[in-house]
Amino acid sequence: MVKLKVVYRCADCGSLAPKWVGKCASCNGWNTLFEDVEAVASASSATRKVADAKASQVDPVSIDSIDTSATTVVSTGLDEVDRVVGGGLVPGSVTVLGGEPGIGKSTLVLQMLAAIARQGQRVLLVCGEESVEQVSRRAQRLAAVDSNLFVVAETSTDAVATAIAQIKPVVVVVDSIQTMSDADSDAVAGSITAVRQSAHTLTDLAKDQGVAMILVGHVTKEGSLAGPRVLEHLVDTVLHFEGDRHHGLRLLRAVKHRFGSTGELGVFEMTELGLVALDDPSALFLADRRVTTPGSIVVPILDGSRPLLVEVQALVGPSSTTLPRRNAQGLDTSRLSLLCAVLQRHTGLALANQDVYASVIGGVNVSEPAVDLGVALAIVSATFGVPLPVGLVACGEVGLAGEIRHVGQLPRRLSEASRLGFSDALVPPSGVVRPTSQTLSLVEYDEDALTVNPVGTLIEAIMACEMAGYFARR
Ligand code: TYD
Ligand code: MG
Repeated sequence: MVKLKVVYRCADCGSLAPKWVGKCASCNGWNTLFEDVEAVASASSATRKVADAKASQVDPVSIDSIDTSATTVVSTGLDEVDRVVGGGLVPGSVTVLGGEPGIGKSTLVLQMLAAIARQGQRVLLVCGEESVEQVSRRAQRLAAVDSNLFVVAETSTDAVATAIAQIKPVVVVVDSIQTMSDADSDAVAGSITAVRQSAHTLTDLAKDQGVAMILVGHVTKEGSLAGPRVLEHLVDTVLHFEGDRHHGLRLLRAVKHRFGSTGELGVFEMTELGLVALDDPSALFLADRRVTTPGSIVVPILDGSRPLLVEVQALVGPSSTTLPRRNAQGLDTSRLSLLCAVLQRHTGLALANQDVYASVIGGVNVSEPAVDLGVALAIVSATFGVPLPVGLVACGEVGLAGEIRHVGQLPRRLSEASRLGFSDALVPPSGVVRPTSQTLSLVEYDEDALTVNPVGTLIEAIMACEMAGYFARR
């Protein structure tokens, strides 16, 4: 006999509270707790564990005796996805593909399934949101039609199990997990309880049948809304598909991956023909750049372990308010304020009554401090209305004393800059003297083509750009 007890579960993060409170203690969400029931074990867990241990023979094995050579992965047919998941999908594994509504998740899975189907393997798409006609129409438009791609419009996990038994696919996509429910459950589809229950059922099914399962899940900007966040601990891999709706750029990254690293990044562009892999995103970001514009600089950033060159722009102008604006897009606004303060204090740049805007072009979000030096130089360049040297890239974290500090994986960044034809790089002093580890030294750049210039402070960087003279003139 299973005993039930009433608990309060947060709809955003799934954590439990013994009684109802207005604010979730773990994610700080307001009014997110709802009433739920949970089974309680009747015997004390300690006595049960002893009984279980006696009843069943456990058989620990030495880790070096386990044969892993038999595990083969199923290539997704899309190189950018394979890159992120480490070569392909593992049979029996479960992956959550999360992203905001409308970002392109359904498009991505359809193109992926078609690519696997074309390799001669059966795949199944369970669409809970669209009819098979809708999916078929989209597939035709995307040239994603193949006889090995099966589609079923169902919302119950039983139906998914039946379809898998019939078709025996290698990969199953459920689009989306929010539409699924167990037939014998009273939970409303889309509720946190239904999402958890059906995810459990589908996970068991995947392990049981040895199919690679992908669960599509909608998340809001805050990463909440009944779903993906509460599934994260349950599944093997969590992929995030993100991008700015107003730009074509889409980034796929793994935030959890039991079978490999999470450092890889897949880059796509959303076009009228669906998602197209972007082999050279840096070149796209820089395509429309006007090198003679004041306040523009290129910064080699790292997203995961993938180097990208992005253009950072700054605009500086007299402020009409007593509290000048510090506005950043694709960058952290508080970091921009901090850089303005450091520039004022340590270089004497007069920004006290100036509005400062800074942005990263192309819909990319840069959170790493390596972008600091580029932003600071763009602000100086914008203030004086003088363009920075053509062919220059800069990266380095700026400290509160105006010093330029170490950034990770500099050779990777520089090789990308060199590949795209940049001739000069301003880097932290540690960038040249620091012994490179073996892995880093594998990434080489052409030392004849790219001159690496270590700068210790903001003043040195400004002098290297030949802008020091403008301070005196103002
Ligand atoms: P979709 O894959 O339906 O998003 P999701 O499943 O994440 O909600 O795609 C949504 C948007 O993508 C849609 O508004 C239009 C755009 N889109 C294109 O630009 N080109 C295309 O070929 C397709 C299929 C969609
Ligand atoms: Mg969709």
